Amino acid sequence: MAFSHSGESGPWRVGVLFSRTGCTAVIERTQLYATLLAIEEINSAGGINQRQLVPIIYDPRSDPALFARLAKRLIIEDRVRNIFGCYTSSSRKAVVPVVERLNALLWYPTPYEGFEFSPNVIYTGPAPNQNSVPLCRFLMRDFGRRFFLVGSDYVYPRESNRVMRELVLKNGGTVVGETYLPLGALHREFVPIVRDIKRLGADVIFSTVVGDSTIALYQTYADAGLDPKVTPIASLTTSEAEVRAMGCDVGEGHITAAPYFESLNSPTNASFVEKYRRRFGDDEPPNMCAEAAYFQVLVFARAVEQINSADPDLLRLVVAGIELEAPQGRVAISHEYNHASVWTRIGRLNREGRFEIVEGSAGPVDADPYLIGCGRALT
Ligand code: ACM
Repeated sequence: MAFSHSGESGPWRVGVLFSRTGCTAVIERTQLYATLLAIEEINSAGGINQRQLVPIIYDPRSDPALFARLAKRLIIEDRVRNIFGCYTSSSRKAVVPVVERLNALLWYPTPYEGFEFSPNVIYTGPAPNQNSVPLCRFLMRDFGRRFFLVGSDYVYPRESNRVMRELVLKNGGTVVGETYLPLGALHREFVPIVRDIKRLGADVIFSTVVGDSTIALYQTYADAGLDPKVTPIASLTTSEAEVRAMGCDVGEGHITAAPYFESLNSPTNASFVEKYRRRFGDDEPPNMCAEAAYFQVLVFARAVEQINSADPDLLRLVVAGIELEAPQGRVAISHEYNHASVWTRIGRLNREGRFEIVEGSAGPVDADPYLIGCGRALT
């Protein structure tokens, strides 16, 4: 099917699909903010080759089926060829067949479970070799070998826990429990799970709970009197956004592996944090998902500028190979899988609700979404 994109001289039209409502709005809202911040910056600097970027924004309400319908509407009715969007892997999995069939590009700025490649997706969040592997190594070294896995019930948690279980077992640990609750699960649903965690004597809780339920899990844990200094909750997705919602006293001592934390000390990040807060409020810290949402628009702009086209067939050829200075540090998109090379970092929450970075890579790490190169051993 052939589409004219933005025309030869009109604005560059792009689609934006992040939820402002529903059970993952707590984090998707920040991805929307950061996308708009990048677009506004590009436009105030004159646009891309003197053409402004115009976002067409819908609220998919944390509903994968609605994501798919809106992606289709963006491509067919709004004549957009590039969509910045999706947080949950179930929403990405719903959009991928749409962008593949209609040949558009989805720019996806979220940590995910790996084991996927689509020529119609640019993946700018981390894959398991960039977060789960260093996190498992850190936890087994500093906290112990008895893991309890808890997740929201959909593809990202189930697949991430499969990878974590394999890493733990291959390295001499045990999984003492594994359990799932529906997305949007409430406090009272976490009470028996936290009771099990206590009873089974876990050394560490690996959580793949996302969205509003994250707040419920950490608050229920705190109410049960568990000590995060001894038995922390470790996550790949709990960010400054969820911590702000749960309260810093509740988060203190817990651990997250991510390419980016708001506390990163660099001039590029200081400028990003300052712009983000000025635009969205002093009490709005950016987070790993917002940062990826921001830098992927800059990658898009750099690529479009080079070829003066937003056609996916041309764009994907130049996107791979682009490198730029993001708030997290230097990032690049790999030729092999359309995944970003990102930094690996472990952050531990302090009393102020900020992540202290306790470990990190010396530079960006290439994505290995099928865990081919790193095997399953941690050393
Ligand atoms: C996720 O569902 N990829 C957080």
